[in-house]
Amino acid sequence: MSVSGGSIAIIGAGSVGSAIAYSLLLRQVVADIILVDIDHDLCQAQVQDLSDATFLSNVRIRAGDFQDASKADIIIITAGAKQKPGDTRLDLIDRNLKILKSILRSLQPIRSNTILLIVANPVDILTLFAQRLSGLPKGQVLGSGTLLDSIRLKRIIAGKLKVADTSIHAFVIGEHGDSQCVAWSTATVHGTPLLKVLPLTETEKDEIATLTRKKAEAIIKVKGFTSYGVAAVTARICEAIIFDHRQVLPLSHWQEELDCCLSLPAVLGRDGIISSFPLHLNEAEQAFLEGSAKSLRKVIADYKEDL
Ligand SMILES: NC(=O)c1ccc[n+]([C@@H]2O[C@H](COP(=O)([O-])OP(=O)(O)OC[C@H]3O[C@@H](n4cnc5c(N)ncnc54)[C@H](O)[C@@H]3O)[C@@H](O)[C@H]2O)c1
Repeated sequence: MSVSGGSIAIIGAGSVGSAIAYSLLLRQVVADIILVDIDHDLCQAQVQDLSDATFLSNVRIRAGDFQDASKADIIIITAGAKQKPGDTRLDLIDRNLKILKSILRSLQPIRSNTILLIVANPVDILTLFAQRLSGLPKGQVLGSGTLLDSIRLKRIIAGKLKVADTSIHAFVIGEHGDSQCVAWSTATVHGTPLLKVLPLTETEKDEIATLTRKKAEAIIKVKGFTSYGVAAVTARICEAIIFDHRQVLPLSHWQEELDCCLSLPAVLGRDGIISSFPLHLNEAEQAFLEGSAKSLRKVIADYKEDL
């Protein structure tokens, strides 16, 4: 892969932001990476540490301010409180909404064709607020959503079938959080319906969905945060944008019919979300998805005055 010459700014240089910088650097997605954090000492130390890895690539990494960040091709927002053991992602909303609003104010005037990628949690709610408050077209503001959950799901299924993860096509849809659901009826193993090659009982499906949903919680309980998985999926999202891959990925984006942002497959390219990719769900899955949207809308309604 060659360096595109573009730039990516990462707001928030903590565990997730620094791991994303490391993934982008190793994958050589852009020529310049800019880290921004209100903790300037931490930011400088992360840049120093990451710069020791740049001998593997031609990527430049530096600390910057919000005005530098506002000119980047992609601005990734990871700044915010993280879950403590026992917290749900929605528990973070008060603190992280305030942080998001102050960041969006500091980024103005924001480059009109930048892509704003939200990673901080609760990602679906913050994506919606970023769409409303950034002044950017909706398609240019997206969240990492359930791409990470879908990768976790594929890994479990691949393990059962003893095939490569890349041969499994399966989506976790809805909220990146407790109300997410697996679109079992649309899952395939290289074109063959998954449930034909792996006939799962309802209990087995629930067990796999729960393992997928609870994976972050299990990691956070021991090490306090997750970072590598989200960093790898963020690098994948950035590659799809910078190189206009038109890849179909489950990402949090605006859903007109559901009146919120949540994850469904979308075509991703240089302009951001190019289109939502149709997924033919069965009745039960559609009801689950609508339930997920309803629970997100309920939270959004509580924060109406912030819009
Ligand atoms: N979407 C996902 O799949 C996913 C996965 C893991 C973590 N996360 C989320 O990512 C976020 C960050 O997690 P983390 O482990 O890196 O936390 P962290 O505490 O290690 O880092 C957060 C950083 O944000 C900085 N920050 C706070 N306010 C800021 C502001 N106004 N401007 C600039 N920087 C600011 C802090 O100084 C800190 O360095 C959390 O919300 C977490 O839940 C999302």
